[in-house]
Amino acid sequence: MIEFFNVSKIYPVNRVALADVTVRIERGQFVVLAGSSGAGKSTFLRLIYRAAVPTAGQIVVNGRNLGSLPSKKVPYLRRTMGVVFQDFSLIERKTVWDNVTFLPKILGVDAKTRRRLAERTLERVGLQRHLDSYPAQLSGGEQQRVAIARALISKPDLVLADEPTGNLDPHLSRGIMHLFSEIHRQGTTILLASHDPELRREFGERLLVLDEGRLVADEELGRRTLSTAGAGLE
Ligand SMILES: Nc1ncnc2c1ncn2[C@@H]1O[C@H](COP(=O)(O)OP(=O)(O)OP(=O)(O)O)[C@@H](O)[C@H]1O
Ligand SMILES: [Mg+2]
Repeated sequence: MIEFFNVSKIYPVNRVALADVTVRIERGQFVVLAGSSGAGKSTFLRLIYRAAVPTAGQIVVNGRNLGSLPSKKVPYLRRTMGVVFQDFSLIERKTVWDNVTFLPKILGVDAKTRRRLAERTLERVGLQRHLDSYPAQLSGGEQQRVAIARALISKPDLVLADEPTGNLDPHLSRGIMHLFSEIHRQGTTILLASHDPELRREFGERLLVLDEGRLVADEELGRRTLSTAGAGLE
């Protein structure tokens, strides 16, 4: 579902964020991206979302070559993805409810459907009691769950999560990872950047390691062999 062919991303001036990366990620996989700070993890995710374009090489997502995707088609590409950014990016002056339903609203989903989707998604992340709170009134873990609910509400095929457990205590981090695991079991492809080796081992199926923009390891973690991910989706 995601293919990188000799992809490089070089920011001015000569800052190599990704260097000649070739990799294929299958539908339904739970892939964890590792690498030290500055290794290129966020860049990797941003390229898939077309928040950045490669300096060289090609990226194909669901059979679409992103290099030839006209800008006006980018919103369609993004509709198939749920994205959890490294800094959550919640809208501070909107409530939890409004943050989570914001995207379906601008996509024209009718109010009744929005309400049904939002109720289900917020319940899933355990936020039903905070619907009217503003982000500043929530803990870090709660804000993170709002960001995840927002990414999941439109039932994406693919979830890109950039350090979704960054700055959370171990207990909350595990809760968040369990949530991703559950979404994965329902067939969603997950690509998640994480600094935490323990969480990676426990929850990931496949580990990609970046080092100074190069893909230096690609390991099967093999802990999730009972997963039913991808069943019936091909
Ligand atoms: N918009 C940008 N302009 C210039 N350089 C950038 C930009 N974004 C990233 N870089 C550089 O590209 C390299 C890779 O950055 P990236 O954010 O992908 O790393 P990362 O692995 O996500 O790091 P972290 O773990 O700290 O989040 C870094 O050297 C960074 O300084
Ligand atoms: Mg990053």
